[in-house]
Amino acid sequence: MLGRFEFANPTKIYFGKGAIDSLKGELERYGKTVQLVYGGGSIKKNGIYDEVLFALHAANKAVVEDGGVMPNPTADKLRDGVRIARENRVDFILAVGGGSVCDYAKALSVSVHCGGDPWEVYYERFEEPACPIVPVGCVLTMVGTGSEMNGGAVITNPERKLKIGHVFGSNVMPKFTVLDPTYTFTVPRRQMVAGIYDAFNHVCEQYFSGEDDNVSDDLAEALMRSIVRNSRVAVKDPENYEARSNLMWAASLALNTLIAKGKTTDWEVHMLGQAVGAYTDATHGMTLSAVSLPYYHYILPYGVKKFKRFAVEVWNVPEAGSDEEIALRGLDALDGWMQEIGVSRNLTELGVTPDMIEGIADATRVMDGGYHVLTRPEIVAILRASL
Ligand code: NZQ
Ligand code: ZN
Repeated sequence: MLGRFEFANPTKIYFGKGAIDSLKGELERYGKTVQLVYGGGSIKKNGIYDEVLFALHAANKAVVEDGGVMPNPTADKLRDGVRIARENRVDFILAVGGGSVCDYAKALSVSVHCGGDPWEVYYERFEEPACPIVPVGCVLTMVGTGSEMNGGAVITNPERKLKIGHVFGSNVMPKFTVLDPTYTFTVPRRQMVAGIYDAFNHVCEQYFSGEDDNVSDDLAEALMRSIVRNSRVAVKDPENYEARSNLMWAASLALNTLIAKGKTTDWEVHMLGQAVGAYTDATHGMTLSAVSLPYYHYILPYGVKKFKRFAVEVWNVPEAGSDEEIALRGLDALDGWMQEIGVSRNLTELGVTPDMIEGIADATRVMDGGYHVLTRPEIVAILRASL
């Protein structure tokens, strides 16, 4: 652990079947008017909406509805949410949904009382909030992003063809999150596996960086093994509570700042994936899976020791042959698992065409924490190899 760090995660977690029972008590700690944020309507079909409304009424809240948050929430939707919040003078924002809904709620929370256009303030100028922040609570219905326990808020601007994440501080993290694994049983299979890959890749992004012996990397390996093992159960038996509960908690731990402590991190797969998302509006986890193997094959020679460790510790690859051969067998095992759970392994099936490559490369931010800092021609080559 050569790095210095501070660690505090203020999000209180209520985990397990029936955890919604805790919602009323939490809501009572905040003001009267609650902006109830949700997505395209899945919560009305599976009954979660009714359970949440029951708690809101039991806590004697005035509810302001704000539904229709789309996957990959847009800057326009955010502006609309700010208007709703201001018109109704909301005291609290309750997000009920997946990462898109949670992200949107956090972006909203820092925009209600701040002047200026939220996209320009937070996603172009990357300012930090200098105004009161409306507190956020979350009821998670889809596993993957970790948004339920972090300060991230990713917003898409389709006109500008940009998808950008702003990682806010602990004052923006949800005050509490309800995690009931049974709430995820109705997630469509494609979304479930995309979320599983997203969580796995969050771990990779923090793992493939740095040289020192670091407890964060040991934690990362345990999370990766758990995600792989439980994903295999969940794809065969989606209502297996044990598997879905492990995946739910692993995904939260994968991106709640814990495993980034004391080390550098990469995040280049996410930068490539977000640029793809800006051009295609494709499912986030699938944009990551489509570019991962070409990217990891490209950077493997720069980080061969870590890729070998990944092969041995995560995939049980026997330690026979050169470091590079062992490392490559680890990526083959990753590829095999991706095929097994059924995530996208190319950009073409996500709607990317060769003429988009230059634009996607322009929209890709270059990070400097991984084993190799990409040049623009290298980004183009990786994107082409991902088609
Ligand atoms: O909108 P509804 O009708 O609710 O349907 C959603 C949506 O269509 C559906 N769904 C969610 N829970 C369900 C369900 N359907 C049936 N039953 C349920 N229980 O799933 C679809 C996808 O939901 P979404 O919230 O978009 O998925 P996800 O959780 O993957 O979130 C993706 C967003 O999070 C951002 C991504 O970029 C993307 O915008 N990320 C946020 C991060 C963070 N805050 O740290 C990190 C990630 O890397 C990621 O970038
Ligand atoms: Zn992600």
